[in-house]
Amino acid sequence: MVMTTVTEASGVRVRDICKSFPVPDAPATRRMALGGISFSIAAAELVSLVGPSGCGKSTLLRLVAGLDLPDSGDLLVGKEKIVGPSAERGLVFQDPNLFPWLTVRGNIEAGLVARGVLREKRNEVGEFMRLVGLEAFANAYPHHLSGGMAQRVALARALINHPKVLLLDEPLGALDAFTRMRMQDEVLRLWENRRTTMLLVTHDIDEAIYMSDRIVIMTQAPGRIDREIDIDLPRPRDRTGDSFLRFRGEILEHLHFAGKAAA
Ligand SMILES: Nc1ncnc2c1ncn2[C@@H]1O[C@H](COP(=O)(O)OP(=O)(O)OP(=O)(O)O)[C@@H](O)[C@H]1O
Ligand SMILES: [Mg+2]
Repeated sequence: MVMTTVTEASGVRVRDICKSFPVPDAPATRRMALGGISFSIAAAELVSLVGPSGCGKSTLLRLVAGLDLPDSGDLLVGKEKIVGPSAERGLVFQDPNLFPWLTVRGNIEAGLVARGVLREKRNEVGEFMRLVGLEAFANAYPHHLSGGMAQRVALARALINHPKVLLLDEPLGALDAFTRMRMQDEVLRLWENRRTTMLLVTHDIDEAIYMSDRIVIMTQAPGRIDREIDIDLPRPRDRTGDSFLRFRGEILEHLHFAGKAAA
């Protein structure tokens, strides 16, 4: 398929980010959620972020999205400091958050409407529906769609803004195992096609190994970077191959979830 526009990806730099929140029971005190995070993502790189629940992964993504501000530290996309939300940084959550009163086409157009560019970009909507394989469902409403289809609409809605960075917060977390594996291939295809810089939060170690160039492991809260692992396997990756399983063992052992068999 020929795409009319090719996105120019940008790298991301996260430098010494600290973020605290008021403690709900004692609003005068604050608890650290991120305790000094630094890492970079190269342009067009796909990096996964894994770590225990509550370690600050979503908080970090919201900071990169510009939806919240850090207490200290710098966030950069390319050479520009992140000071607020921008269509250049797309965010997709576990829940597709589609507008139930709009069709598939309407939902994908919503990003263009919000930016006031629907008139000039309307011809791209069909292209993005094809890209995620939903052209036959243009006039369907969200309640007509399966979970995987709805998530593909959410991806198309983010991609139609040609983001330089795509932030994915457990985007496949609500899907069954088979749909999830199919969707991993879909997301990889979109990534290869668009060459967008991607930061993917996932709890699924296999997903992280299958998809990423690099896995960044965070510690318990307050979140810090524990370790970074380059996944230097050719794609498409074999989930049952020896090197894949070696990465799996290494990461699970590092996270202490390997169970008795590894002892
Ligand atoms: N708006 C907020 N107000 C107060 N505390 C918050 C807020 N947002 C996040 N936190 C706290 O910050 C910490 C990190 O939360 P975050 O949602 O980033 O974790 P996470 O790594 O995404 O967890 P999970 O894997 O369960 O999604 C938690 O202790 C959470 O309670
Ligand atoms: Mg989260």
